[in-house]
Amino acid sequence: MKSFLQTLFFVSLVVSCSSETKDYFEVLSPDKSIVFSLSNSSLDGLSYQVSFLGEEIFSPSRLGFEFANLPSFEHQLKVISVEQNSNDSIWEQPWGENRLISDKHNEIAILLRDEFAREALLRVRAFNDGIGFRFEFGKGFDAETIIQDELTTFNFSDPKEKSVWWLKAYQKDRYEYRYDQSSIDNITVSHTPMTLITNKGTHVSLHEAALIDYSSYVIRNGGSNNLKLELVPAFDGTKSTHFGQFKTPWRTIQISKNAAGLVDSSMILNLNEPNKLDSIDWITTGKYMGIWWGMHIGENTWSTGPQLGATTSEALRYIDFIAEHGLDGLLIEGWNIGWDGNWMQNGPLFKFDEPQPYFDMDAVADYAKEKGVALIMHNETSGDVPNYESQMGRAYDYLKEYGVHHLKTGYVGFANGYPFFNKERARPNEEGDLIYEWNHGQRMVNHYLKSVIEAAKREIAINAHEPIKPTGLRRTYPNMMTREGVRGQEYNAWSDGNDPQHTTILPFTRMLGGPMDFTPGVFDVWFKGEEDSSRIRTTVAKQLALMVVLYSPLQMAADLPRNYAKRLDVFQFIKDLGSDWEKSITLDGEIAEYVVIAREEKHSGNWFIGGITDENQRSYELDFSFLPAGNFKATIYSDGEGADWKNNPFPVSISNQLVNSKSKISLDMASGGGFAISLIKE
Ligand code: NOJ
Ligand code: CA
Repeated sequence: MKSFLQTLFFVSLVVSCSSETKDYFEVLSPDKSIVFSLSNSSLDGLSYQVSFLGEEIFSPSRLGFEFANLPSFEHQLKVISVEQNSNDSIWEQPWGENRLISDKHNEIAILLRDEFAREALLRVRAFNDGIGFRFEFGKGFDAETIIQDELTTFNFSDPKEKSVWWLKAYQKDRYEYRYDQSSIDNITVSHTPMTLITNKGTHVSLHEAALIDYSSYVIRNGGSNNLKLELVPAFDGTKSTHFGQFKTPWRTIQISKNAAGLVDSSMILNLNEPNKLDSIDWITTGKYMGIWWGMHIGENTWSTGPQLGATTSEALRYIDFIAEHGLDGLLIEGWNIGWDGNWMQNGPLFKFDEPQPYFDMDAVADYAKEKGVALIMHNETSGDVPNYESQMGRAYDYLKEYGVHHLKTGYVGFANGYPFFNKERARPNEEGDLIYEWNHGQRMVNHYLKSVIEAAKREIAINAHEPIKPTGLRRTYPNMMTREGVRGQEYNAWSDGNDPQHTTILPFTRMLGGPMDFTPGVFDVWFKGEEDSSRIRTTVAKQLALMVVLYSPLQMAADLPRNYAKRLDVFQFIKDLGSDWEKSITLDGEIAEYVVIAREEKHSGNWFIGGITDENQRSYELDFSFLPAGNFKATIYSDGEGADWKNNPFPVSISNQLVNSKSKISLDMASGGGFAISLIKE
């Protein structure tokens, strides 16, 4: 069958040579700044171009598909119909950086048919902040389709030298690496979001939205300025397999004249489907502490022994501290069976509905309830997905019984010593051998969503560590609250750490996909002493600022209670800080240099501002003209006299003044420093 189809295809290609036909379509953003144009040539196939304010962002770039079991869908496509639509609406988020989201776009939907009467709809949406396009495979794709290659390319016309921020894909620890800055030539293969600046200063970020039952994509350097979409393969080398008609995720191109505009874009959310959950009033945001940092800095252990972290008494002690200071939740790691021994390799031993003997779940849950503290229970899987899936229902039922609404999941593990090194353990094959999959392949994409859907049934929200990348699914499943997927604070505890620049890159790259559980807020930045290379390369004021800048609906205050108790004046900022926002505004920023973000708390009308810098000290004039009318009591936490991340990270200067929308304040950020401001409405 296959070769017959291929022959047919070849014949029709030859015949058509004499009569090339061409179609051309355009869709413009509502403000007309962005133009997406599509050309369909019977001979060369489909290609698209994108321009922004007259600047060509992409020169003609290819579209199309190759399949492992079917002829490709690329050439000889006939346009059957073209539909144009526009939308201008506002929808409300249950929680997020902004309560109201405006969805204003123009759409073109082009129905294409090939010579085998197979059809796909190419749907393109042009927003003022970028483009999204996807293929919807319809008639003729009713049986099995195995995608071998999605041919999409991104041919950048004029990128600035050394202006791409990218994260190398297919590495052992998934997303947990430093970003590279280079020219396009030096990219090998990058995760998304990948962000770059053109010679004209335009900021562009490539990513995807609504990644459901499909392999996620990475970007492969195809030479010169041509980048190619590459689907993360399954264990057998195929890319993405579908039974019946299916859709690709949206391929997204966020475009902004400046860096701040990228951060404030809601396009990824707009390209996801509305909320599918029936009731969501049980989903709460909040600030949490954890039986956590102690393990990472070596004061405690996950496994049983004299330094065990998750004991009943330790949990009660934390609950007291959290309740006393008005925070919301407690993360508990190491509470269940399976951590003893080498937990990174002990995936099959984990039990998710059985506490270890030193942890009395009844007592802890009762006490937490009495004190009004939410529990965030942790399920580490060590990447053993079959073991986790076999217990998932039970695990989530167990938490539901205790009234636990928050779950942190974890997928540490990289198939050490197994044939497919670097890959996540996914399932046994028919012979019972274990098969390993990439963390970002279709199989794991489906696993992570399964966890979200099963959790939702039990009124549980998810904070996934070692996750797949965020693609805006929090809109459809608002219990998908936050995730890691970053070289987070934990790296400062036990590796050579993150340099001061790291967190000034994340808002413009990783965070364009969605919330991030980085776990900031550590005051004792020299927990192992000044000389140790495991230390935090920021000032204390910057740790406060990160609590605002690095958005997470569940925001961790990661330090130990005793370190907060020593500096209650500084801790006051964390106590005052909101966790759910009416509005967020990125006031300013440049990738890998600095960023300043202001957020208005829902209901209270209080504002919180965070500003951070890289290793360079910087003066910043903060203009409060974004504020609504009225006076605010500002408390300003900035780098104190002589502070810098390297030699003197601790001084924080705290001052008060009244501000309104006419105020301007000049602030000095130290090297590796920042500032945090609370504005309490008078
Ligand atoms: C890695 C996670 O990122 C971290 O938060 C967690 O404590 C450990 N794994 C143990 O599960
Ligand atoms: Ca991690």
